[in-house]
Amino acid sequence: MTASCPTPASAVAFRGVSMAFAALGRVFLCLDKDFHILHASELLDDMTAPGSAASLAGLPVEQVLGAELFGRGGSLRATLEGGERREGWRASLAVEGYEPRLVSVTAAPFPADPAGVCDPLVRYVVVLRPAEGDGGDADVTLFHGLVARSEAMLRLFRLVQTLEQSEVTVLITGESGTGKERLAHALHARSPRQGGPFVAVNCGALPGELLESELFGHVRGAFTGAVRDRVGRFELAAGGTLFLDEVGDLPLPLQVKLLRVLQERRFERVGESVSRVADVRVIAATNLDLARAVAEGRFRDDLYYRLRVVPIHVPPLRERREDVEPLANHLLARVAGRRGRALRLSPDALRCLIDARWRGNVREMENALEYAVAVCRGQTILPEDLPADVMCTGVDVPRAAVPVAPTPAPPTLRAVDETGPPDAEQLRAVLEAHRWRREEAAQELGISRSTLWRRMREAGLLH
Ligand SMILES: Nc1ncnc2c1ncn2[C@@H]1O[C@H](COP(=O)(O)OP(=O)(O)OP(=O)(O)O)[C@@H](O)[C@H]1O
Ligand SMILES: [Mg+2]
Repeated sequence: MTASCPTPASAVAFRGVSMAFAALGRVFLCLDKDFHILHASELLDDMTAPGSAASLAGLPVEQVLGAELFGRGGSLRATLEGGERREGWRASLAVEGYEPRLVSVTAAPFPADPAGVCDPLVRYVVVLRPAEGDGGDADVTLFHGLVARSEAMLRLFRLVQTLEQSEVTVLITGESGTGKERLAHALHARSPRQGGPFVAVNCGALPGELLESELFGHVRGAFTGAVRDRVGRFELAAGGTLFLDEVGDLPLPLQVKLLRVLQERRFERVGESVSRVADVRVIAATNLDLARAVAEGRFRDDLYYRLRVVPIHVPPLRERREDVEPLANHLLARVAGRRGRALRLSPDALRCLIDARWRGNVREMENALEYAVAVCRGQTILPEDLPADVMCTGVDVPRAAVPVAPTPAPPTLRAVDETGPPDAEQLRAVLEAHRWRREEAAQELGISRSTLWRRMREAGLLH
């Protein structure tokens, strides 16, 4: 609670109301006639960061909940000034130093208190509740910034937890934009080296000679242009994790050097003979098929096996469509929050996202939502606000024309034999089509929920 209640009685009144709302999981704000925050209840500290409730006193509420709703002429402000109450509006709660959160807002004008117990400056009251979990986000896991609902991703999270006492070398594979770097961060954050640095090198971004000095450093005069000593990434990452991104692009001569460092745990700066200890844990990633690169002689097999002590494959988004909805909600809150807006997806827009090809995986979805937030005028993103290729995939383009692992289209789904047991693929397809809502899937299959549950268990689809 803020300290600015004018009388002890009003402080007690505010405290009582705050506690009642906190018990209901709601934050309570009082605003003055100019829409400045007079008081904010302490539950806000739990939702954001300690001290935030107190820090909001005196701020215009638009700074915290967005000008779209609360600025001059803002929609919610105009409604309140007109003496009306509104419930369940979406806003992005921005508290300095804390990542924006999606909240549901209920606001009302506050009548004058004839008994004189309440702070007489209060003209409006606002109640907030976290809204990230709205819209079918049940069973969603948030793991070090990674959002997932699919069993495939949850298995990866469990693997990261299993490895948390280990410093083993990990090779992360997966298509572009699947979250490999994020996962590398999670591995680091859940490792004995979490207190040390996380240093990333993109092995595909530099030609061989420069890359060598980038990795190992060099001494002055080692080559033309080496005008002073330089510390390499292996040294910068001492005590922490070195993330070798796009490791498949490493030129063959450097592959030999890297192998030696991994085996001997020692390296030299370019142009120097002093041997230094490599106190790093290595995590590598690639979107190439490294086994194929090995077969074709482009990647050394000894290095390949040295790197993939623990191999982790991040599946493409189209193989885990049950992640699309929670990811979309999460990314939308983040993208829109950065612009001080709070938007939701219409059911049709969500359908398009679920059906899209996502060749660029999660990164492509993030970009699609950036686009949508930029073009969307209202509070709800419609299919036409999405980039054309995303919008079209699920709407106009016949499925047969989509050259990706096909998700059967609804007519095929209806063809599932209603008497015989559907096979695992069909079952999965039906469940995916219904976003893993078992009741709907059971209805479509014409079986009871318990039969569906049994068949899911038999097919290994139980989460
Ligand atoms: N499961 C997830 N939950 C939340 N955000 C995710 C998830 N997966 C990926 N992202 C986001 O998508 C973007 C791309 O992720 P990242 O850079 O880790 O992918 P990548 O596999 O390393 O891609 P590339 O191969 O192109 O380098 C990032 O902004 C990341 O935060
Ligand atoms: Mg990457």
